Amino acid sequence: MKHLSIAALNVEGQPMFKMLDKVQKLERTGREILHFELGEPNFDTPANIVDAACHALKNGETHYTSSMGIYAFREVVQQTTQISRGFKPEIEQILVTPGANAIIYLAVSCLVNPGEEVIVPDPGFPTYYSAIRYCGAIPVSVPLHESNQFRLNPDDLRKRITSKTRLIIINSPSNPTGAVMTPEEIDEVARIAKEHDIYLLSDEIYARMVFDGENRFHTPAIFDQCKERTIIINGFSKAFAMTGWRLGVAIGPKEVIEKMGLVVQTIVSCVPPFIQLAGIEAIKGDQSALTEMLDAYQQRRDVLVAGLNSIPGVKCVKPEGALYAFPNISGTGMTSEEFADFALEKAGVALLPGNNFGEHGEDFVRLCYVNTLENIELAIGKLKQAIQERNK
Ligand SMILES: Cc1ncc(COP(=O)(O)O)c(C=O)c1O
Repeated sequence: MKHLSIAALNVEGQPMFKMLDKVQKLERTGREILHFELGEPNFDTPANIVDAACHALKNGETHYTSSMGIYAFREVVQQTTQISRGFKPEIEQILVTPGANAIIYLAVSCLVNPGEEVIVPDPGFPTYYSAIRYCGAIPVSVPLHESNQFRLNPDDLRKRITSKTRLIIINSPSNPTGAVMTPEEIDEVARIAKEHDIYLLSDEIYARMVFDGENRFHTPAIFDQCKERTIIINGFSKAFAMTGWRLGVAIGPKEVIEKMGLVVQTIVSCVPPFIQLAGIEAIKGDQSALTEMLDAYQQRRDVLVAGLNSIPGVKCVKPEGALYAFPNISGTGMTSEEFADFALEKAGVALLPGNNFGEHGEDFVRLCYVNTLENIELAIGKLKQAIQERNK
């Protein structure tokens, strides 16, 4: 008898792509839509990175390469980890992957059995839930509170540990809230993981995107240097505006990384070498485009958050990092789904309902500030007008 596997029935994917389909359908009817739904930087990949890829292609870097990643690229990751995180992982602790998203699945599938539990932030990045369920495991959510600026409270996390917990996932700076956990909070999470002898997956894809001056980014990996339990997720999509390149890097205990590498070998063989060589340029080359993009994001954040706070029934905590604002819309009397539909239909503003990120996202919506300042101001004006008309 034919049937879909339990894994296939459990896989959910990413709800933002469903919203994109809906928005594109409207655009085909001639509607003009202002986009705030996808975490897709509206900058082009810096030219030096593109040039490095073209050069590599012309130089014949078009063949299979090691499933773990090109040695020279992993050496550069070693050096940059020393600078950014204060420790130098061994080469065997580093795995190059086709994007950061893949690392979530690789880690969960290598560390968690069906029926076992993974602790995830709620609201949190939807791939965590999808990958965990796809593996037959159980996501256990830790609520993030607006009153705590959405920073994960280690005491809330501690309460959710059971004999079945195998993995904790944290994400600072966070998608969808932009929250940046304090070093003390992160250290406490690392202590909890050690105390219970469980793995800790630290999603650090927004590590380079912390605002307001000195970088307050902090990693739990300083405790074990990714030798015992910490696995770092990193990727090039966001800070380098390289979403379409599909390039990520995992750092973790050798025995875990080796198994994750075999899964990469099984499903994609390797990451294209010309992409990895572009990754070397991204890390080692001119960084001025990054600073410019970060400055632009910070400016947009300030305008967007001030604008949202001027809309009746909406209030928004100031995010300290990443690319997202996560305003509370409960004062409008709408659910998050209703607000997202309303914003799209009445104001032509595409954003995502907070419940796409877990049940604790219900009173919120997510806007990604990857649009121009002019469009942010336009969107705020349209939302405000639509709400005022609705309130009449
Ligand atoms: C928290 C988080 N982790 C991982 C990813 C995946 O990034 P990519 O697969 O593009 O490298 C994203 C993308 O939005 C994200 O927000």
